[in-house]
Amino acid sequence: MIDKIKQHIAEVEAFKTESAKEVEAFRIKYLGKKGILNDFFASFKEVPNEQKKEFGQAVNALKKASEAKVTDLKENLESKQEEKGVYGDLSRPGEPIEIGSRHPISIVKNQIIEIFSNIGFNVSEGPEMEDDWHNFTALNLPEYHPARDMQDTFFIQTDPDILLRTHTSSVQVRYMENNKPPIRTISPGRVFRNEAISSRSHCIFHQVEGLYIDKNVSFADLKQTLLYFTKQLFGKSKIRLRPSYFPFTEPSAEVDIYWGLETETDYRITKGTGWLEIMGCGMVDPNVLRNCNIDPTEYSGFAFGMGIERIAMLLYQIGDIRMFYENDIRFLEQFKSSF
Ligand code: DAH
Repeated sequence: MIDKIKQHIAEVEAFKTESAKEVEAFRIKYLGKKGILNDFFASFKEVPNEQKKEFGQAVNALKKASEAKVTDLKENLESKQEEKGVYGDLSRPGEPIEIGSRHPISIVKNQIIEIFSNIGFNVSEGPEMEDDWHNFTALNLPEYHPARDMQDTFFIQTDPDILLRTHTSSVQVRYMENNKPPIRTISPGRVFRNEAISSRSHCIFHQVEGLYIDKNVSFADLKQTLLYFTKQLFGKSKIRLRPSYFPFTEPSAEVDIYWGLETETDYRITKGTGWLEIMGCGMVDPNVLRNCNIDPTEYSGFAFGMGIERIAMLLYQIGDIRMFYENDIRFLEQFKSSF
């Protein structure tokens, strides 16, 4: 009899199932009213006295093993169900809601829009896929012009040429074609160039284009507008304009901001000079005005274009432009407090 009980214990311990039905059947088989254990208990009186002790201990051991097995199997089933269940354990404490953050490029873009809208500029947009006219020809960059570096452009189709815009200057043209002066507009957007990716340049980046057309607009107006802008955005007012060349402006200049050399990042992004070029600008070339049906003898204006990444790198001390496009949550989370 004792041997039989021991055999049952071994059986109980080896028993395995993941089915609720089988667990219940197992429970009834051992622990039910007409189950094996009760049978043993009932036969207790037939056991000779000298064996009663050993018998009792063995039956108790079987009882304990059966109960423990049933509890184990049930717990196992429940935890499996929880995993599968849509809501899991409803009594579990809630998870804190994480507040999202804007991408630093969006933050800086919004700041630029805000600064220019305070002095009467509206926001305009144009397509990222452009034709040759709006990206090049109307901007005084005729075919075979050396400034039209073929290698920098992603062409989608040739004859007629369709391409990914290489700058937001194309939006100037669209805006002038569709609106009469006075014009005060800024055009933020994504631009594309077939450039090698490094810590300072990328093949997709963002620009903001500015355009001001009215009667008697002068270079002095341009300078004051840029000074106002850099004071507002950086809280610093040391800028310099270096003579430069763009086909769509005459005269043209590049604008550098003096940031200083306080940190290692400052050193890296300014190449140790403290100065960083932030935009190109100039007086809109009369040819461009004519191409857009604006009379250059009546109107004049200025334009400027800047890269948002560059400005964001300065403002947030980011040493590598690739950070903007990797969507690393540890990077993005740091911009929660900005708007
Ligand atoms: N389109 C130029 C570029 O992508 C930037 C630029 C320079 C825009 C001078 C302008 C400008 O409007 O006047 O590099």
